This record gives sequence, C-alpha cells and structure tokens, in this order.
Amino acid sequence: MKNLLILFTMSIFLLSCENKQNIQIKTSEENTSLSFKASQKYLLLPIEDTGEELKTELFVDGKFVNSYIIRLAQNKIDYWVPIDLSEWQGKEIRIDIPELNESAVCLKEIKLSDTFDFNSNEPFRPAYHFTPPYGWMNDPNGMVYYAGEYHLFYQYNPYGTRWQNMSWGHAVSTDLVHWKHLPVALSPDSLGTIFSGSAVVDENNTASFQTGSEKTLLAFFTHSERKGQFQSLAYSNDKGRTWTKYENNPILQHATAKDFRDPKVFWHEPSGKWIMVLAVGQVIEIYSSPNAKEWTYESNFGEGYGSHDGVWECPDLFELDFPLEGGQRGVKWVMIVNINPGGPMGGSATQYFIGDFDGKTFECDYQPEEKHWLNWGKDHYAAVTWNNVPDNRRIAIAWMSNWEYANDVPTQNFRSSLTVPRELKLVKQGASYGLTNYPVIETENLRQEKKEWENITVVDDYSIDKLLENNSGAYELVIDIENQSAEIIGFKLFNDLGEFVDLYISLPEKKCYVMDRNASGKTDFSDRFATVTSSPIEAKKTYRLHLLIDKASIECFEGDGEISMTNLVFPSEPYNRIGFYAKGGNFTVKQFVIYNLK
Ligand code: FRU
Repeated sequence: MKNLLILFTMSIFLLSCENKQNIQIKTSEENTSLSFKASQKYLLLPIEDTGEELKTELFVDGKFVNSYIIRLAQNKIDYWVPIDLSEWQGKEIRIDIPELNESAVCLKEIKLSDTFDFNSNEPFRPAYHFTPPYGWMNDPNGMVYYAGEYHLFYQYNPYGTRWQNMSWGHAVSTDLVHWKHLPVALSPDSLGTIFSGSAVVDENNTASFQTGSEKTLLAFFTHSERKGQFQSLAYSNDKGRTWTKYENNPILQHATAKDFRDPKVFWHEPSGKWIMVLAVGQVIEIYSSPNAKEWTYESNFGEGYGSHDGVWECPDLFELDFPLEGGQRGVKWVMIVNINPGGPMGGSATQYFIGDFDGKTFECDYQPEEKHWLNWGKDHYAAVTWNNVPDNRRIAIAWMSNWEYANDVPTQNFRSSLTVPRELKLVKQGASYGLTNYPVIETENLRQEKKEWENITVVDDYSIDKLLENNSGAYELVIDIENQSAEIIGFKLFNDLGEFVDLYISLPEKKCYVMDRNASGKTDFSDRFATVTSSPIEAKKTYRLHLLIDKASIECFEGDGEISMTNLVFPSEPYNRIGFYAKGGNFTVKQFVIYNLK
C-alpha cells in the first residue's frame, strides 16, 4: 500500500524544486508548473527566438486569468520578455506550461524583477521610424487624432519578436514624428486575439458611452479565434488612456466568410451614419450604422477589379479634394486595399482605387483590369489613414516589412518599424486621378546639420567620399537632377565594407526607377530579400529624388510623391559615400542636399 502511494505521488510530481530565483517548479508528465508570490513588478521570461511555441497559462490565487503562446527558451536564451505583475502584487501566481520539457533552460533562469532592461540600441533599431519598445509589431491600427494628439495603435506581440498573441500596442504624438509609448490598449480575451482595425471620435455620442466632458473614442477591431473572425467594439472616455470592451461584443459576424476582418470606420456626414469597410476574402464589404453598435450590409466592391493574386486585407475609404479651374474644389473617394501576397515586387503591397461613394456603394473610375500601386518597394504594407485629422489632411502610415520575411529580419528585441507618416493627395491621371504620397511636412523637424553641393556634371562617375562626419545611419537626401543626354541616371550609396545600394532611372526604352539591394548588407536571412524593385517613371528633363534613410530602411520619393518606393536594408555600417554615374550621355546634379536626422 505504502509503495503504491509513493508510486502514485511520483507519477503526479516527478520533480518539485525551487530554481535559483526562488520560484517553485513542479514537473509532472502532463504539466510543468511555476508558483511564486508576486513580490516584484515583473516576471522575466527567457525566450528562444525560433523555439517551439508553447501554451502558457497564468493563474492568480488559483483562478485562470490569461493564456499566451510563448517561445520559452528550451535550449538557449536569445532575449527576455516581461509579464507585468503590478496588478497582482502580493498574490499567489501559478504558470502552467503543459508542453515544456523539464530540462528547458528557461526553468532555471526565469526570475522576478522590479526592472526590465534590454538592449534598445541594437544596430538596426531605427533612429526616427516608429518601433515598439520591444516585441513584435505588424500593422498600424486605430489611428485617430483627438485633443492635440495623434494616436497610433499597432498589432503587437508583447511576449516575443515573432507574430503571435495579437494585441493593440499604443503610442501618441503631437507632431507625427516623436512618439511616446503608452501601455497596451487591447489584449486578447475569451473571444479571441485582437486583430487590425480603426478608431474614431464619437463627436455626437451616437454610441451613448460618453460619461464626462471628453468625447468618447471608439475602437473597432477584429476578434480572431480558431472558429472564425468577427468585429468588436471598445471605447475610451479618457483620451485613449484606458479602454473598455463593449459588453455585447461581437457587433458583426459573417455567415460564411473565414477571412472577415480589419474594420475601417468613419462618419459619413451626408447620410448621418457610420460606415465600415471590411476585407472579406477578396472583396471589400461596406456596412452602415447609426450608433456604431448595429450594422447593416450595404454593398461590396472589388470583384474583377485590380489585383486578386492574394487575400485582401486592411481596407480604407476616404474622401479627398483637389483643385479645379477657377479656384473651385472637386471631390473623389479613395479605396485602399492591401493585398498579400500578390504585390508587384512579390509578397505584400498596397493597391488603391479612385471613384465615388454615396454612403452605400463605391463606384470605381478605373477599368477593372487596371492596377494602381501606392508604393513600388517591397516593404510597405497595411497602409491605412488617420481619422479626424484637422485641416482636411489625409495622412497614411504603413508597416515597413513584407510577410515573405517579416519574422526573420535580423533584429532581436523588437521586430519591424513603420514608414514615416505620409500625406496623400490626388493628381490628375488620364480620365481620372492617381494618388501621391509624400512624407508629412513635420518630418522636417528631424533635420539637423545640412550640407549641400551644386551643379555637379556627371559624365561618367562622380563620387562624394564622406557624406557626413559622424554618420549614424539616419539622414535625408534631396537630389535635383537635370538630364542632358543620359540614358541611365544613377547613384550608389556605399559603406567602407563594400556594401551598397544602387538606385537609377533607366531611359529611354525601359523608363523605370530602380532600387537594387542585392549587395546592401545582410540579406541571407531569407531567399526573398535580396532583390531589385522597380517602378515606371516618365522620361522628363528634371527629376527630384528625395530619400529618407534610417539604420535599416530607405524610403524614396520622386517629384511630389508620384512615385514612392520603400525598402528595408541591413548594412553592416552606414552608407557614407555616394557615387553618381551616367551611362549613354551626361546629367547634372543641380543641387544635392544632405541632412543629418535625429
Ligand atoms: C495584415 C493582417 C490583418 C490582420 C493582422 C493580424 O498584415 O493579416 O489582416 O488583422 O495582420 O495580425
């Protein structure tokens, strides 16, 4: 009998011990369980970047609170992530990790701490592009302007630097270029993880959530779980600092669609209703609502239009005005549709359609087979715009990566950054309009020292050997070119290790603007990364090329943003030499300006 009891006890707890950090560890065949009192602010978890995804459940005083998917280190520790224990101080915490191997290194090292320090100066951490403090980021979400602040939410994994545990991270800015991080706004719950969506100011309190003098901010997002995707609502009455999920979520479900997500909502004044556009497989569905809670299907757009070489995601719909003769203004509607894969350079990209919208239906001006791309690089996805921005400005921001390799880019404590915010405008194009995008004027606030050169005639090659004295890798180039007779107008940006990026305009027969990043630095983390991107360009006398360069990216614009091309690069050290070259004739660099950016 005694022996049986011992055997029984052993089979339940093969091992019960304390690690060097005084955390009680119990390992049985079915489970590994950690127990401790929440006596410090954080529990620090050791992570293995490509380790196995493990279900990790958190209990407080024996009650289930949350579950996460975490790559806890089994063989080696690559970096750490914290679980914030502030709200459970003094309580008993238990963490169950059923699939964890009992010899996993994380068990010895997992610890409590009042601080969480990590290397925030990794070589590829951008100097001025938005990044999460640590952890993984993808799409920008919920962008809205309210009470002097631009809010930026984003798809966030706080427990690792690969996609998982989707939550809404949050930051605010008063100038669109300097961001202050705020606590995570929306975390997964019993309805699912929190996918992409949008936010608005409920000016007229249509949803009846307002309690004080601050207007209510409403956030619309997709709840995603194994059974499907549906739309939900959350609100904030304190300028976005805290959020309450609506008690009757979800607010919108679909009878059949598996891919049903990324609600973009805006107030449509003429019909006095909220409009929601949603990505549903490969079309955009349009819904309306008087109160943001009850939604009616109106129409759909997209079948047979544009590119369908992938899933449609993250749509946007907004009005833009443009000048008419005689000082009048005309109005057109822009439908943005992100697509993955199926981009012109492979993988993720942003397409758009111009037309009219009457509160129910979007009528497209373009021929169905026309394809219009907002950006010609490889790293511009999930572009959507801010709601409620003053002065009628329409400002977009995009995730600067590509699903082809986003999880593998060579950073450690964080993954991914966003583009600089860009202002969108309409330009006349044939019988309809096209869309330009150009860095917001506020980007100029980043400019530090300036250096400039004038009237450089490029016959074969012309090199400027030191662009900046102390080049940290964050700078801006404005290059005004006048072409005399060159067929290729090119320049390369080099570092001393021989790594370079080649940018050129090819005329006359091909008429394209090209960026080649094959030799740009680190490229071996994915066979989809080393590549050449190219956009059509007009043959003209003068070109203005504008480049925003950061530690791991190059955003190029031509003219007023008629062309934009955004690409990641991972040079081992900053490019600090420029070599202009001409083929088939010569050109003049009328003006070449460089600004250090900070
Ligand atoms: C686009 C996307 C969205 C989805 C989110 C999930 O990158 O796939 O459609 O809501 O990412 O993180």
